[in-house]
Amino acid sequence: MKVCAQITGWGKCLPQRILTNDDLAKRVDTSDEWIRTRTGIAARRIADARESTATLAIRAARNALNVAGLSPQKLDLIIVATATPEYIFPPTACLVQDALGASRAGAFDLSAGCSGFVYALSLAAHCIESGACHNVLVIGAETLSRIVNWEDRSTCVLFGDGAGAVVLQAAEGDGGVLSSVLGADGSGADLLIIPAGGSRRPPSPATVANGEHYIHMDGREVYRFATRVMARASREAVQAAGLTMEQVALLIPHQANIRIIDSAAHELSLPKDRVYVNLQRYGNTSAASIPIALCEAIEEGRLQPGDHVVLVGFGAGLTWGAAVVRWGRPTPIRPVPLWRRTASWLGYRLASVRSLGMRLLRKLDALLGAPWRNGKR
Ligand code: UT7
Repeated sequence: MKVCAQITGWGKCLPQRILTNDDLAKRVDTSDEWIRTRTGIAARRIADARESTATLAIRAARNALNVAGLSPQKLDLIIVATATPEYIFPPTACLVQDALGASRAGAFDLSAGCSGFVYALSLAAHCIESGACHNVLVIGAETLSRIVNWEDRSTCVLFGDGAGAVVLQAAEGDGGVLSSVLGADGSGADLLIIPAGGSRRPPSPATVANGEHYIHMDGREVYRFATRVMARASREAVQAAGLTMEQVALLIPHQANIRIIDSAAHELSLPKDRVYVNLQRYGNTSAASIPIALCEAIEEGRLQPGDHVVLVGFGAGLTWGAAVVRWGRPTPIRPVPLWRRTASWLGYRLASVRSLGMRLLRKLDALLGAPWRNGKR
């Protein structure tokens, strides 16, 4: 029997703080009218001082595991797609692994700009189909507000913070992730870039003074690229799944700009009611935008078992990717029962105790040396 990778859980986390276009117009020379007509964005969420990419990722992951009814200990792999990791290293995925108590899981970050979630989903599905993994957690999480130059009106109006996650599990049959296509064109690397902070230009007073740790973007060129690849990648993925566009119930595109989405929908001859859009609420949350939109589409009852959904993204790299999923779970799902929520809450408290215990043991080890560890003291 063929093994497929089914999405069995999903979750999102958005910061409470809302920054509207009018709020932004008080900071930079812009207007609600300009932002709405050029991008479709009305507001975005901004992480507070206690929030970060990892905290948002952890909350989205817990929600996804709750929906799947899966214990974190059963996870084989955790992938966090992000352009704004907690640190250069360790990977944000390891912080998520520790907070979840996913003691059997490998964990790593994936950097493919705003296409990161589709890349991670594709990789996770292949890991499951090959038999290497049974249960994989895929997260897209970002705190772009931390790398945006709040004095640059051409970029600061576009981005927001948030996280979305899905649980992929091995299942028998031919549903789940049916196909994926990934692409890259590094000749456009400079079109969307944080110039400093990596090995090419390590941080220095000069890089800070020049604003080289912020997002730099050639908006027009990225726009042209996006309108070229979105429809093409979607079509290729649909073809690879052995389907036609008529069989697609919903397109969930990367939420960057309504004009880019409309242009792709037009090229694919998809009517508006078969294209999911929530960028007016959250702006562009990079690798988090597709999983957040998927969660909201499910919550709104836009996906039914048997439906085919296309996820398509583009971004820094330049990269692009599209995946076709045959939806398998009935929606809306029943609320997670109280006992399960309590059990998970206890599990996560235990995970933090375990983490603290391991840190203490490591300190003790360093203090007393190997003989103590070997029971010789
Ligand atoms: O995840 C991938 C991330 N990136 C993207 O998806 C970006 C793709 N690109 C875009 O979405 C669009 O190119 C933008 C929304 C960034 C810009 O829209 P545009 O229609 O391409 O505007 P533009 O860059 O051609 O600028 C038009 C004018 C310029 O003024 P002048 O030179 O014509 O006098 C800009 O200075 O609009 C001005 N402008 C603004 N005005 C008010 C640029 N940003 C703003 C602003 N408010 N926030």
